[in-house]
Amino acid sequence: MEVNLVKHPLVEHSLSVLRAKTTGTAAFRQHAGIVSTILVLEATRTLAVSSCEVETPLARMQCGMLAGKTVVVPVLRAGLAMLFSAQDLLLDVSVGFLGLERDEQTAVAREYYQKFPEDLSDCRVLILDPMLATGGSLDDSVSAVKERGCREITLACVVAAPEGIERIGERHGDVTLFTAAIDESLDANKYIVPGLGDFGDRYFGT
Ligand code: PRP
Ligand code: URA
Repeated sequence: MEVNLVKHPLVEHSLSVLRAKTTGTAAFRQHAGIVSTILVLEATRTLAVSSCEVETPLARMQCGMLAGKTVVVPVLRAGLAMLFSAQDLLLDVSVGFLGLERDEQTAVAREYYQKFPEDLSDCRVLILDPMLATGGSLDDSVSAVKERGCREITLACVVAAPEGIERIGERHGDVTLFTAAIDESLDANKYIVPGLGDFGDRYFGT
């Protein structure tokens, strides 16, 4: 698996705000948006562009326009935090949804919702999930997207744990990961350490 650690002063700053336990919901949402925007920018750097002719007010010129179909898949619920940034950048992107929730005792993800475009075989899929902990949720997400024929899959996470990266690398070596941080490890409850706590709860104020 190709792993890209996204380094940028704005990401470093916003991630520090996200990590601080004193950060409230409003600031958490704002800074999650900033980090997500930069992650999506990086994750879309290699999107295909086809040439086209444009007439400016002064002359005709050769330009480039996005080519090919991209689908974003936020992993509910925390992935919604990144969807808003993705939609701001990819204006007519299709959205597939996957609802997964980790069992609090076992940390194993349970699927409760799925809604995808039927055929993803000619699409590039960008899966959004801010936390890659054990990797169970993203492992299931990648499998679900592959089942629909997709062969070009990119993952965007805010914080990743080495355990999760290893799992995805073993199970899906053909995907590309963009993450703003690779933390130390998981704790006994399978939370990322130092991490930022429960992303979904902090983002949605629950
Ligand atoms: C969180 C997070 C990931 C998952 C990561 O979701 O958003 O989807 O845990 O953990 P894993 O790598 O060990 O699978 P959670 O299940 O807490 O649901 P939520 O998004 O509704 O908060
Ligand atoms: N989900 C979260 O929101 N945070 C973690 O640290 C692990 C899983």
